[in-house]
Amino acid sequence: MTDSPLLVSDRDAVRTITVNRPDKLNALNAATLDALHVAFDEAAADAGIRAIVLTGAGPKAFVAGADIAEMATLTPVQARDFSLRGQRMMRAVERLPKPVIAMINGFALGGGLELAMCCHLRIAADTAKVGQPEINLGLIPGFGGTQRLLRLAGRAATLELCLLGAPIDAARAQQLGIVNRVVPGAQLEEETMKLATQLASAAPLASRGILDCVNSGGECAIEEGLAFESAQFGLIFATEDMREGTTAFLERRKPAFNGR
Ligand code: COA
Repeated sequence: MTDSPLLVSDRDAVRTITVNRPDKLNALNAATLDALHVAFDEAAADAGIRAIVLTGAGPKAFVAGADIAEMATLTPVQARDFSLRGQRMMRAVERLPKPVIAMINGFALGGGLELAMCCHLRIAADTAKVGQPEINLGLIPGFGGTQRLLRLAGRAATLELCLLGAPIDAARAQQLGIVNRVVPGAQLEEETMKLATQLASAAPLASRGILDCVNSGGECAIEEGLAFESAQFGLIFATEDMREGTTAFLERRKPAFNGR
């Protein structure tokens, strides 16, 4: 496993997946895209895992983009397949039934920002920089960047980042709604683990219901989204965790959720 582009480690119910190509600033080549897809499928299937943290190895980068060296010689058909490969993996992360936090420890550029945007929450070091610099290479984003940034931060921010290609700092990314939290770099890991532990202790089926509603509802008319939410709301009343949560509240004690 020494040549795997990922490191995977568990602390209780939190799994950390680290893109481990620090000498290439964790750039996403095809092997890394595939390894991420497999790693997220495994995390989804593992009943002991309730939250996932995704980050990059080394002090400089979360992920500095798709691998430019690998992309440079692609034919148009190969480039389309490379784009689809990344998009499929990122869609799988976005639709994962467990919450995923992107811990942005440095540059999140191009495919790196696209990867962070398919996660459910983003926490960044104050020194991090994010952007969609593809235009500087004569390219456009190809792993969903034009679409997810549009939905996350709106048209003005998307056009600014994609057309100008200049990275922005973490504070501005937070102002634009691209990242949820910004913390001093030295506290990034600790703050992320606090957040992940909180997510992991929440009722898993309720987390899943929220993720499903937000994923599905964001893409349809409000009537359809509301109908889907009501159906999910009804379904959650079939869970032991819902009984436990409401009973614990009424008994003034802390709930213990078991994921059933
Ligand atoms: N793809 C492939 N390799 C990359 C890469 C990428 N997206 N980003 C960085 N690297 C490699 C560099 O080629 C270099 O490799 P080398 O040491 O074998 O030459 C190594 O990572 C370190 O990068 P370097 O550019 O020397 O670091 P820096 O601190 O001077 O600059 C960045 C950091 C992020 C500003 C710069 O690496 C950069 O602009 N990267 C590309 C960002 C980008 O355009 N992403 C979108 C791709 S579609």
